[in-house]
Amino acid sequence: MIIETKTADRVDLYKLLIGSVLPRPIAWVGSISADGVDNLAPFSFFNVASNNPPVISISFGNKPDGTRKDSLNNILATEYFSVSMVSHKMAEAMHDSSQAFAPEIDEFAALNVKKAKCANIAASKVAGAGVVFECKFRQLIEFGADSSSNLVLADVISIEVDDAIIDYPKIDMQKLDLVGRGSGLNYVTTRDVFSLIRK
Ligand SMILES: Cc1cc2nc3c(=O)[nH]c(=O)nc-3n(C[C@H](O)[C@H](O)[C@H](O)COP(=O)(O)O)c2cc1C
Repeated sequence: MIIETKTADRVDLYKLLIGSVLPRPIAWVGSISADGVDNLAPFSFFNVASNNPPVISISFGNKPDGTRKDSLNNILATEYFSVSMVSHKMAEAMHDSSQAFAPEIDEFAALNVKKAKCANIAASKVAGAGVVFECKFRQLIEFGADSSSNLVLADVISIEVDDAIIDYPKIDMQKLDLVGRGSGLNYVTTRDVFSLIRK
């Protein structure tokens, strides 16, 4: 079948896209509000947008009431945020942190996820994450007449890697043991690895 995107239902379009572009990496975003409240939530419309300079992209949909998600509000208000990469042992806590909490709730505390201070920024990171990016907001690109999709580009100002998983500059992907997002409620591991050589 061919789906013409101009006429397709928007929920169907979402399902078609997330059912096709997979697995998706997951950014576990630690942000801080202007009032100093820590926030934590996962986002899988996430990737590397540029390696030189290092820039990442995250796309935020809106809340069901059409307003911006707390993470995006925080990033626009305070500019700096962390991205903790999600290892398999953290998958359940990451998934739980996608619940909608009021902006004045510290989601690390509410979900019992141990937080740690970042090296350069006020936002917190997930303690024990194998890799953490500390990021600075660069650009917002809004899509849709109702700005229902908000693409953030952010500069990576530092990368913290657990010494146990790096043979500098190579990160051991088996030791990092990330999970990715599939469609619906499905996730994948990065454990089924194969290598190819150029002939
Ligand atoms: C694995 C996973 C990936 C997600 N990816 C996205 C995403 O890319 N964009 C988005 O807007 N919401 C995404 N969500 C939903 C948000 O995590 C959820 O709306 C969360 O409550 C936002 O929190 P906040 O309002 O504190 O920012 C995802 C949820 C899960 C579990």
